[in-house]
Amino acid sequence: MTLPSIAAPVVQWQASHGRNHLPWQQTRDPYRVWLSEIMLQQTQVSTVLGYYQRFLDAFPDVASLAAAPQDAVLALWSGLGYYSRARNLHRCAQVVVEQWGGVFPGRAEDLATLPGIGRSTAGAIASFCFSQRVPILDANVRRVLTRVLAFDADLAVAKNERELWDLAQQLCPTEDLEHSMPRYTQGLMDLGATICLPRKPGCLVCPLQPQCRAARLGSPESYPVRTRKLKRGAEAWWLLIAVDEHGRVWLERRPQQGIWAGLFAPPVFGGRDALAQAVGQHWPAAAPPDWTDLPAFLHVLTHRDLHLHPVQVPVRSVGMEGARMGPEGCWADAKAWAGMGLPAPVRKLLDGQLGG
Ligand code: ADE
Ligand code: SF4
Repeated sequence: MTLPSIAAPVVQWQASHGRNHLPWQQTRDPYRVWLSEIMLQQTQVSTVLGYYQRFLDAFPDVASLAAAPQDAVLALWSGLGYYSRARNLHRCAQVVVEQWGGVFPGRAEDLATLPGIGRSTAGAIASFCFSQRVPILDANVRRVLTRVLAFDADLAVAKNERELWDLAQQLCPTEDLEHSMPRYTQGLMDLGATICLPRKPGCLVCPLQPQCRAARLGSPESYPVRTRKLKRGAEAWWLLIAVDEHGRVWLERRPQQGIWAGLFAPPVFGGRDALAQAVGQHWPAAAPPDWTDLPAFLHVLTHRDLHLHPVQVPVRSVGMEGARMGPEGCWADAKAWAGMGLPAPVRKLLDGQLGG
């Protein structure tokens, strides 16, 4: 199949319509670009901006990050979620210092060997900082390219995924790489984030519309194609961390079926409103200004991603006994919950938040 020529229109469109004033675009320092890419992996730009600056103020270069205690790194990450990113970030800085003489490697293949840097992130760093002719294929770009190509093979199959990477490689610019590669990479990201949206893509204002096979077929929304294997479910759970005047937390036994079957956990709600309503019923005196939304975090199960949103609510334990939220519940202090069957993320949360 002959491939459409998308490089020139993407590069041109990026220059006039793309995002060009983000702080990490004002540098080709791989440390800064790497930091931004890791932060942006699961967090939106508006949130990353503040964190990015604070992080750089504390750790202006890879050596200072490598030398920092892990706690200091995690503290600056606090609130961004997905803490494995922060731990990998720290380890990556240490590997760069110890094995690469404190200088980030300039080739995507080498970057991809570092902790926390996958093939797409490696491609982003190498194209932004070194103008290497390598593709990226994050979720946004995957959507753009499968649509442009009407690539309908199942991406849950490794062979198809590899083929898409090969096509992405071939679609990269071939001229003036020094200038065009960073713009091309950013342009594909920007198209995916602003025009080629999952639902109702803006084909009418898209610079790729003349070449786009999915647009011509009238079916952009049917790409990318992937079976359930890859399409994991996601759920958000709000956890009520009710803490009484003795520092004890209210835990209930989970039903014998489903997630965390039979274990003890804080009461779970499908949304913050439902949580607030339950608090209002059981502890009408617990005032919302005293509540603390703890950092949300991801818990990966086999078939779905659980986004956990703990809310800490100070309450008085008197009055609770007769009106339990679940059939089996109790107040537990750190010593008590140490001996109880808790899901690992809950234990970690409680130990970190309320433990001795
Ligand atoms: N998401 C991932 N990388 C990004 C970048 N360089 N600019 C904006 N959003 C991004
Ligand atoms: Fe996406 Fe539509 Fe542009 Fe094709 S024409 S890349 S489907 S926005």
